[in-house]
Amino acid sequence: MDKRYFSDKVVKWYEENKRDLPWRDTKDPYKVWLSEIILQQTRVIQGLPYYLKFVEKFPTVQALAAASEQEVLRLWQGLGYYTRARNLHACAKEVVSRYQGVFPQTFEELKKLRGVGDYTAAAIASFSFQEPVAVVDGNVFRVLSRVFGIDKEINSPEGRKMFTQLANELISRKHPDRYNQAVMEFGALFCTPKNPDCPSCTFKATCFAAQHDMQAVLPVKAKA
Ligand code: ADE
Repeated sequence: MDKRYFSDKVVKWYEENKRDLPWRDTKDPYKVWLSEIILQQTRVIQGLPYYLKFVEKFPTVQALAAASEQEVLRLWQGLGYYTRARNLHACAKEVVSRYQGVFPQTFEELKKLRGVGDYTAAAIASFSFQEPVAVVDGNVFRVLSRVFGIDKEINSPEGRKMFTQLANELISRKHPDRYNQAVMEFGALFCTPKNPDCPSCTFKATCFAAQHDMQAVLPVKAKA
């Protein structure tokens, strides 16, 4: 499939089908970071009330940094993966002490923060600062492997590299934020792991997986 065609069409799909989620109404890097940390390993439905609670109780990174660890863990209760909560708190303190409370603005600088890996750095850099760096998560692997017919193992270093490179070729230079949200949303809502509704899909005529009945095979994951 032509790359430009895919990028334009997935964004069009997004504009017509996206969920109204509170972290999409803001460019504040603090709120984008908070939402992405909460949503790691967590479904939107489950994470949403936590995001709202945290923003209300700690509206700024300074407020979060000033809280006690106990307060942060208490608010996090029920989400699991408590290392995430500890890293969240440590990162807030780091932003305050090392960056005067102002989040770094580039992908490379963001990655230096505690608990911020490639995915989260790309999300903040693109959503808050329009840096054209692609997010690569499970949704992105699934959508790109199916649409473009890539059978490289997604959990191998070469596979990760290949998908990341393709994603960075596909990203819109003009609206990297919208493009990134669009692919993730398309993967989350439509190009689902099980039983995707290919006959109704906007890409059905050109998607490799739909054309070759490979939806159940792609993406390929190496056995651990
Ligand atoms: N899951 C992780 N990040 C997300 C985002 N920005 N929007 C919706 N779901 C997500």
